[in-house]
Amino acid sequence: MEILLVGCGKMGGAMLRRWLDAMPARFTTVNRSGRALPPGTEHVAGHEALAGRRFDAIIIAVKPQQIPEVMPDYADLLADGGCYVSIAAGYSTGSLANLLNNAPVIRLMPNLPALIGRSVNGLFAGPACADLHRELADQLARTTGMAVWLDDEDELDRLTAVAGSGPGYVFEIARSYIAAAEALGFTAETARSLVLETMGGAIEMAARSDQDVAELRNSVMSKKGTTEAGINVLRRDGQLDDLLRDTTRAAYDRAVELR
Ligand SMILES: NC(=O)c1ccc[n+]([C@@H]2O[C@H](COP(=O)([O-])OP(=O)(O)OC[C@H]3O[C@@H](n4cnc5c(N)ncnc54)[C@H](OP(=O)(O)O)[C@@H]3O)[C@@H](O)[C@H]2O)c1
Repeated sequence: MEILLVGCGKMGGAMLRRWLDAMPARFTTVNRSGRALPPGTEHVAGHEALAGRRFDAIIIAVKPQQIPEVMPDYADLLADGGCYVSIAAGYSTGSLANLLNNAPVIRLMPNLPALIGRSVNGLFAGPACADLHRELADQLARTTGMAVWLDDEDELDRLTAVAGSGPGYVFEIARSYIAAAEALGFTAETARSLVLETMGGAIEMAARSDQDVAELRNSVMSKKGTTEAGINVLRRDGQLDDLLRDTTRAAYDRAVELR
């Protein structure tokens, strides 16, 4: 199988590293800026170098705003029976099909822990897709993490707002937590290690537990103890709930704008 990857930046590059290890396919990558990319793939500078070639799948990994300018140049490179797989946020299967000769399009929404095989991948197949296309997209997803198929494209945009953008929220929360630890007097290095190990351990424990996370929170709070004192501030006036609801809503609204 011949697969073309258009856009090999942070997200496309992270996924490519996993695909090269696990997928029985040959990957060609468009590498406009000539950056160092993993061995085992053929790199070309642009679509001009691909004249006459055909690919069984073309993966769209440029920014959503770049799609209308970039992707029409790749509309004739899909083999008969092939499909496009887009990892771009928001840009709908309908809009992509309009640019790409009404070819089958699957949207695969990953997140950055694909780098360590822990991506949360949402998938949605456009109307022209066959089982073969779904199987390929499922394999592309599962070699980077978990796969969740959705029947409704709007749900994929909601998943984007929670999981696709989610690592960014987690990094920002961790940054703020580390700054708070530094303000209590720890060095930057110690603060980072205390916070990341605490977050990692607590999240791993919650993921392995059958208990609701609110129950787990209660289980670490004793009456008039230190955790209760901290949690009372964290939950003050429901500000944290409002903030996270507004955060995910803003990301969803942006995905809708990009359709
Ligand atoms: N980053 C995430 O956490 C994340 C999560 C889920 C989904 N996504 C989606 O993944 C896609 C890529 O995002 P990213 O974060 O990886 O962005 P990025 O690092 O900026 O990568 C974009 C890539 O597009 C390439 N590109 C731009 N114009 C091109 C052209 N004319 N021909 C060929 N390649 C071109 C760039 O190549 P040059 O560097 O050579 O210009 C770059 O490698 C986006 O659609 C985004 O919605 C990202």
